[in-house]
Amino acid sequence: AWDGDIAARIISEWKSREGALLPILHALQEEFGYIHPAATALVADALNIGRAEIHGVITFYPDFRQAPPAAHSLKLCRAEACQSQGADRLARQAQDALGIGFGGTSADGKVQLDAVYCLGLCSVAPSAMLDGRIVGRLDDGKLASLLTEAGQ
Ligand code: FES
Repeated sequence: AWDGDIAARIISEWKSREGALLPILHALQEEFGYIHPAATALVADALNIGRAEIHGVITFYPDFRQAPPAAHSLKLCRAEACQSQGADRLARQAQDALGIGFGGTSADGKVQLDAVYCLGLCSVAPSAMLDGRIVGRLDDGKLASLLTEAGQ
């Protein structure tokens, strides 16, 4: 969880070094899993730079997150072999069920949905991955149980 004291300690460890901004942001993200909005203010004060500039850096690098990571990660394969086996329809179904597009996180913050391009399971397409576990021959029933497993 976010802790302003820990954040302040991380920032003070780095702040007098040359080019401290990126190392500080990486260290904060590693500690908390994301860059808390309050961290941006602390960093701005410590380095004497504008919040807008820090925000620009955070949004420029796709590695940085501005919200806590979702508890579950559901990835659906969109590559050719899976598409030919109905992956598009399953993708729409998952998006409708979660109310989000690819790259989004469900409103309850529990599931992040992503597209992937081949999980090496083409022979049992369409395929998916939930929290690192790969699932082949995805169908309506399996998709529904993956969503249930992810707390939906
Ligand atoms: Fe989907 Fe290879 S194309 S697993």
